[in-house]
Amino acid sequence: MTKIDERFKGQVALVAGGARGIGGAVASRLAAEGARVAVLDVNKNTLDAKVDQLEKSGLQATGFAFDLTDEDALADTIEKVYQWQQRLDVVVNSVGIVGPTGIPIVDYSTEEFRKVMEVNVTGAFLLTKLSVPYMSNNNYGRILHVASIGGKDGNPNMVGYAASKSGLIGLIKGVGKEYATSGITINGLAPAVIATEMNQDTDPQVLKYMADKIPMKRLGTVEEAAAISCWIVSKEASFNTGFVFDLSGGRAVY
Ligand SMILES: NC(=O)c1ccc[n+]([C@@H]2O[C@H](COP(=O)([O-])OP(=O)(O)OC[C@H]3O[C@@H](n4cnc5c(N)ncnc54)[C@H](O)[C@@H]3O)[C@@H](O)[C@H]2O)c1
Repeated sequence: MTKIDERFKGQVALVAGGARGIGGAVASRLAAEGARVAVLDVNKNTLDAKVDQLEKSGLQATGFAFDLTDEDALADTIEKVYQWQQRLDVVVNSVGIVGPTGIPIVDYSTEEFRKVMEVNVTGAFLLTKLSVPYMSNNNYGRILHVASIGGKDGNPNMVGYAASKSGLIGLIKGVGKEYATSGITINGLAPAVIATEMNQDTDPQVLKYMADKIPMKRLGTVEEAAAISCWIVSKEASFNTGFVFDLSGGRAVY
């Protein structure tokens, strides 16, 4: 049996949206458990700070700044990550934008809707499409996309986010089945509200609406998100694919 803090020893993990928030906590935990971690993020300042923090802790990390929706840059970066150690074992996609909140569909900008779909769905599509060939080389891989309870339940007045996360859940289920016999698993996580920088600017009334729906009556933490995420992308999670795991303090019991 592997010691828990060495679960990812010898593995290479790519964490998209790993500069802060849930992805940041997942990147830290993967690195602390032995993975070499490539952090991808559109925000160069927070990315550099994250890689610096990991390196100063004696962990192995590298960073790539770019927009997940840029297919050519993504293909180039995944190739570089693979060439780093000639392997790619784990991909975690924590990239996501909320888009407008508290806006009924009739007032919701079509341009904003397209932008949310582009980042949350097309980005996930590209990352999955471009990563699986490298994992197929090794007949092993773990891909995890961070979806949302909003994609399962459909939070009102944020149609772009709800539609994009439902779309992402469909992608996870379909592609999970597509690769079910390959050694590569593709799963999702559906958190309720987690305290991160992402929701600092969310309308307090929307946040209260979401927190009130949680039976545990509190927000989740990024450490709780990292704990379940790291199990999902570990070798132990070998009989789970195409599934969207709950992280909702009892809100979703399905
Ligand atoms: N925080 C919550 O309450 C919550 C709840 C449910 C689901 N989620 C989902 O979890 C994921 C992470 O959320 P978070 O709260 O940590 O958010 P966050 O904003 O703190 O982190 C997201 C990261 O993605 C990066 N990013 C955004 N757009 C990008 C792009 N186009 N290309 C590359 N990087 C990009 C950001 O720079 C940021 O570092 C998101 O998908 C979010 O929808 C969050």
